[in-house]
Amino acid sequence: MSQVTEYSEKVMDHFKNPRNVGEIENPAGVGTVGNAVCGDIMRMYLDIDDKGVIRDARFKTFGCGAAIATSSMATELVRGKTVQEALEVTNKAVMEALDGLPPVKIHCSLLAEQAIHAALWDYAQKNNIKIEGLKPPVNDINETKEFYEMGGK
Ligand code: FES
Repeated sequence: MSQVTEYSEKVMDHFKNPRNVGEIENPAGVGTVGNAVCGDIMRMYLDIDDKGVIRDARFKTFGCGAAIATSSMATELVRGKTVQEALEVTNKAVMEALDGLPPVKIHCSLLAEQAIHAALWDYAQKNNIKIEGLKPPVNDINETKEFYEMGGK
């Protein structure tokens, strides 16, 4: 993916018309992740059926435009996927689906990835199951190796 310097049309669309904003009552999994540097917070709610398929995903984000657009796209991407497949919705996958993000906004997509992981972790804990490859969630993306590798941007 070539480097982009401004918001794509897709980012602007998901920022102005975010999909799946809100909460799920009694969610199968819920996770909250923040970024202590900018102060943004994202909460992700998942409704998961007994076959482990994500039926619904909703979010609440207090954050920048890129954080809202990536949350919106992340919920669209995980819907209909199994919990295992949802792990493939990485920050890179979310960015690609949005036709890229400017370099200084890449960390915002990490918030979306980590919020999904936190919600999946909550689901796994509640149901006493193990999701292969899922690591314990962080409260703050500054604690992730990926964020560190990005130079904290
Ligand atoms: Fe904080 Fe985008 S600036 S998540």
